[in-house]
Amino acid sequence: MFSRRGRVVAVFAVTAARIDADDPLGGLELGPRPDPVAPEGWVTVTVKAAALNHHDVWTLRGVGISAGRLPIVLGCDAAGLDPDGHEVILHSVIGDPDAGGGDETLDPGRSLLSERHDGTFAEQVAVPRRNLIAKPAALSFDEAACLPTAYLTAYRMLFEKSGAQPGATILVQGASGGVVTALILLGRAAGYRIWATSRSEAKRERAVKLGADQAFPAGARLPERVDVVMETVGQATWAHSIRSLKPGGRVVICGATSGDASPAELTRIFFTQLSVTGSTMGTRDQLGRLARFCEQTGVRPVIDRVLPLAEARDGFAAMIAGDLFGKVVLVP
Ligand SMILES: NC(=O)c1ccc[n+]([C@@H]2O[C@H](COP(=O)([O-])OP(=O)(O)OC[C@H]3O[C@@H](n4cnc5c(N)ncnc54)[C@H](OP(=O)(O)O)[C@@H]3O)[C@@H](O)[C@H]2O)c1
Repeated sequence: MFSRRGRVVAVFAVTAARIDADDPLGGLELGPRPDPVAPEGWVTVTVKAAALNHHDVWTLRGVGISAGRLPIVLGCDAAGLDPDGHEVILHSVIGDPDAGGGDETLDPGRSLLSERHDGTFAEQVAVPRRNLIAKPAALSFDEAACLPTAYLTAYRMLFEKSGAQPGATILVQGASGGVVTALILLGRAAGYRIWATSRSEAKRERAVKLGADQAFPAGARLPERVDVVMETVGQATWAHSIRSLKPGGRVVICGATSGDASPAELTRIFFTQLSVTGSTMGTRDQLGRLARFCEQTGVRPVIDRVLPLAEARDGFAAMIAGDLFGKVVLVP
């Protein structure tokens, strides 16, 4: 859609138009949306690549968003060009570090792109200028687009929240998801011994090829107890996570894809003096360090498939079916 002066007044975008907890794809719409408008202090970025997260499926199911915010463009992650043509990665956390004691993720008013402001599954997206970091030339746009949610979350879980020194054993529940593959890659590169679990033998094999020391069927008894467990799955794996920890160990949790944990295993938690630590996203500075970590170590995000934005529905369907190993990248 063009104005008389030839300026684009509509961008192609992937939008959450309706909430449906049982049929998330039913609320997905692809088509024109108004040009993003950048308020004071914000800039418009031309998206070169965006990446899908489970967060986008949660939005379509109505988790973390109310119907009053719809329609809203989906997508937390992107890499692209700023108005001066510089290659940038977007930090997805819209928040004030001062309001969060120096950490924007702790600002009580913070949101992620696509929660209150239109997200990245579009040709253009508006973001606060401070949310841009320089993209290292060593990373492609597709690779860089994977960093802001799954990889940043994994970075904080490993290097801020786990409390574990290199050489420690970390159990990662799942073997194929975006956060999980990031934990395997970053953890291996940092010198942790990574054990993974998966429901699928093929995914277990791939996890070991990726750098996991060993991979086990979901719920399997491990050769020994571990220092830290990384949880994104929730109900389906929680009891196994708690039972797999050494006395004094820690579970770091950033998600509950299969639902909230029940029972909570409170007796075992206090009796073996475990810690349960929540983790969400990361700061802009951590995103900068993560990009440099990838540049310096050679770690590159695992990408399952790259799709044109117009075929985003296929990527959503694969994520809902659990038929992925790594990230789905969407290219406008
Ligand atoms: N707090 C945060 O800042 C933050 C950031 C990113 C993600 N998250 C959350 O973390 C979770 C993972 O996100 P993602 O983007 O990595 O999603 P994803 O790519 O869809 O990850 C799916 C993973 O879950 C594993 N899984 C194991 N058992 C499962 C079960 N019974 N049902 C469903 N999945 C099971 C799968 O393992 P196998 O198929 O190998 O068994 C797979 O590794 C989501 O809930 C997301 O909302 C939170």
